[in-house]
Amino acid sequence: MGVTLCLTKPFAIGKFPSMPDGCAPWSASEKSEENTAWIIAADPVDDARIALASTGAHVIPPAVLRQRLQIDHARWTRFAAHWEDLRPDRYAAQSGTRRMRRYGRFILARDGSGQLQPHATFRQPTNTNRLFPDAGRDFAPLTDAFVTDPVLDAMLSLLSQIAVGIEDAPQWNVHVHPFRVLGSTDSRGDATPEGRHQDGVTVVSTLLVARRNATGGASSVFLADGREVLTTTLSEPGTLLVGDDRRTWHSVSPIRPVVMDAPALRDVLVVTLTAC
Ligand SMILES: [Fe+2]
Repeated sequence: MGVTLCLTKPFAIGKFPSMPDGCAPWSASEKSEENTAWIIAADPVDDARIALASTGAHVIPPAVLRQRLQIDHARWTRFAAHWEDLRPDRYAAQSGTRRMRRYGRFILARDGSGQLQPHATFRQPTNTNRLFPDAGRDFAPLTDAFVTDPVLDAMLSLLSQIAVGIEDAPQWNVHVHPFRVLGSTDSRGDATPEGRHQDGVTVVSTLLVARRNATGGASSVFLADGREVLTTTLSEPGTLLVGDDRRTWHSVSPIRPVVMDAPALRDVLVVTLTAC
């Protein structure tokens, strides 16, 4: 029996009557007409679902994300430019961090289609944010250009596919937060000034959009008993961290400038999904 290998890792093994899309043969001479065994690239959605159901957290590398969402350089550049149009977060300023952001909420159907909801005050569930317990916070709304950006649409669809792996919800309440955190001599550079916390949602995700002149900014995920699931520094734009917020806690260490006469910068898209 001939064996044909796809050159992409990680692997899952299956049998197909013909070559699966995107899978290049290792050697045409190794292919047989009957009962050909293929080794195919694992679906990043499957990988994420398996990880969330086991360890509780998962990182999707940027190359995998770009391929899955069909994001080329021009499309990513247009998406990242939205972070130049954020507004100051006056609540973070109270704890000494310069943070820029916007905020919006969607209802996401099972098929991944999203419906933007009327802009409203952001409230986190009780007991999930020690800095702002039960307090509403008002942020600038998402811009029309951001809401209609195809990368956002693709991201929401991907996240709903991942989330349904741990909870089979008919729809999702989705909070979308583009953030920019600045670290400098007059800014603490704290992405999570509340410290280790939960968001009171089903799935929490962080997509790194940009990172410049920064050291620090390590993302950590913990179980309820304090055991560390993972610690990783999102350093390459397009890296996506997802976590099961029902049973994990998360935090991000402050960023500091590498070159002290310029601020450190960390742009992320935080999206949370709650089954509803
Ligand atoms: Fe959080």
